[in-house]
Amino acid sequence: MKEGIKKRMDELVDLINFHNLMYYVENNPVITDREYDLLFSELAELEAAYPGHRRKDSPIRKVGGEPLDGFKSVDHAIPMLSIDNTYSKEELFAFDERIKKAAGISGGIEYVVELKYDGVAVSVSYNNGLLERGASRGDGRRGDDITVNIKTIRTLPLVIGYKKPIEVRGEIYMRKDDFVRLNAERKKNGLPLFANPRNATAGSLKNLDSATVSSRNLQVFVYQYLGEETCRTHWEALKFMKEAGLPVNPHNAVARNISEVVSFCDSWRTGKSSLPYNIDGLVVKVNSLELRNKLGSTNRAPRWTVAYKFPSEQATTKLLEVKVQVGRTGILTPVAMLDPVELGGTTVSRATLHNFEEISRLSLKVGDRVLIEKGGEVIPKVVKNIPEYRDGSEKEIISPAECPVCGSKVKKYDGEVAVRCPNISCPAQVKERIIHFSSRNAMDIEGLGEKWVSLLVDMGMLSDYGDIYYLHKDKLAGIEGMAEKSASNLIESIIKSRNRPLSRLIFGLGIRHVGSRTSEILAEKFGSLESLSAADMETISSIYEIGPVAAESIKSFFSIEKNMSVIKKLEKAGVKTTGEAEVKKGVRSLEGLSFVITGTLENYTRAGVTELILKNGGRVSGSLSAGTDFLVSGRDPGSKLEKAKKLQVRILGEKELEDMTRGNDGFPERG
Ligand code: IVH
Repeated sequence: MKEGIKKRMDELVDLINFHNLMYYVENNPVITDREYDLLFSELAELEAAYPGHRRKDSPIRKVGGEPLDGFKSVDHAIPMLSIDNTYSKEELFAFDERIKKAAGISGGIEYVVELKYDGVAVSVSYNNGLLERGASRGDGRRGDDITVNIKTIRTLPLVIGYKKPIEVRGEIYMRKDDFVRLNAERKKNGLPLFANPRNATAGSLKNLDSATVSSRNLQVFVYQYLGEETCRTHWEALKFMKEAGLPVNPHNAVARNISEVVSFCDSWRTGKSSLPYNIDGLVVKVNSLELRNKLGSTNRAPRWTVAYKFPSEQATTKLLEVKVQVGRTGILTPVAMLDPVELGGTTVSRATLHNFEEISRLSLKVGDRVLIEKGGEVIPKVVKNIPEYRDGSEKEIISPAECPVCGSKVKKYDGEVAVRCPNISCPAQVKERIIHFSSRNAMDIEGLGEKWVSLLVDMGMLSDYGDIYYLHKDKLAGIEGMAEKSASNLIESIIKSRNRPLSRLIFGLGIRHVGSRTSEILAEKFGSLESLSAADMETISSIYEIGPVAAESIKSFFSIEKNMSVIKKLEKAGVKTTGEAEVKKGVRSLEGLSFVITGTLENYTRAGVTELILKNGGRVSGSLSAGTDFLVSGRDPGSKLEKAKKLQVRILGEKELEDMTRGNDGFPERG
């Protein structure tokens, strides 16, 4: 029995470490958060009950011990230096010239370009394969021993395959979504907010209670290797670290010369907003380690590297007016109209203000001078007002009592910050709903964008998305600005859209809390709009991955008579409201199926069989439930086999699993 437990704990460690890697490093999670949490809590419970079986590389970090009184100081044998900054392509060319001159080379110098993570530098030492020490940069010569805190970083392995002593350096950071969540929670608890993810990271690392640090979900990328292994280039060193299991950023790139460096820098200026974390520029590093040695360092910074910093993403300007927009769900959003100003390469004249509470939080008045910032999102936001500029002429901003579009009295629902227009026939909502229905990820009606929808609603030709299918070519062609050819193209794309997959149609309906992924699940489970609309709460919320809020919202959408009559219109116009198994190219044979593994398999290790299932689109879970599709059972299966039989979960051997992955779908019978 004991042995079985140890085996299970080993399995769990391997599985969780594998999923950590997929989630944090590969950015490609293969199981849901819930399944992950189940594995995690199973292991945590077992470790609590059998601490002797705890493996050194267990992902359950030992957190929550006694808080520390303070951190010990540690010396950096090799100082942690800074990097010189550049802000333009000219300065990058000048840097390249300096290198060439010092090296006596006339051809192109090879560089590695890395993202410059906006976090906190750290040095991590491993000895005998075990994480031994983590230290902060401090003044570059002496830092704090923050080992207990860095051990809470889930992507930083506690054990690596390499046994000789090595030190790696990198940057600890907080993801943008974690930062937003953290601040929201702090706000709720009346705690001071962190200004940005970097401050939140620095603050977290200084925390003396590692349980708090663990809850912050910090991340790390390593970018420097100091050890015995002889690499010829920095690129090789990065590869070596990756192979040792350390989190190396996937966007690192080699540039053959400085011109390539410049184009990388340019592409990241706009590309950076799609990253889940903040970067404040790029770091350009000479690739050849021999050349680096030759170049050496000054007291402050190495000569072989330079940072390219993005142009300032903050600016000040005047708030001219606050306009109110009404969205698809009736939410009134205040938008700041600004005196146009240059920000991060574009001219900005509008910024989002989120909601009216935000306006009072910022104590904004029309006429204020404001600081604006381009954060992770493309749309800039107002960070604060600068009261020193006030001259008394500024005007209060009042939250409107009526919808600016239809004049209905606005409503504020319990527990919501947003102010809403309750009139579902409000032209603003109607327009937004039709635009959403027609958009690329929904029914994809080419040619029916914002401009035409707005016009057609104003002309009374569209009052809901059902009307789209009753538009007449002759009427369209009579509208100013709509040529005959465009009218027939539009009609053609409307007709084409009638056959979109059911999931797109469901998404297009614009049900609150139903995004494209949820729509896919609903389409797959219900197969038709008819059965979805008839489903009761219990059936909907019993679907794995669909939470109670979404279920409630789905039910209430179909209970509104007006919505059902629009759906009738769609059906009558020949819009396909049933699903057919989409024959996608390369459909993975285990897509949508969940597996639990037990016992010893002949030809696979636990990680191997997990990978086989995941690669083919299946999901692997640690514990059996009625929702499990298959139990893959090997030798000495233990209690899982009995449980599976009880739950009527189908049982497979590895051979049958292999058959399934080859597309041979002779699924064995249940029980
Ligand atoms: S290399 C001395 N690579 O930027 C050279 N640093 O402004 C070692 N940083 O202290 C640093 N991303 O904390 C390097 N890809 C990257 C980096 C990076 C962020 C930080 C690091 C350094 C600071 C200098």
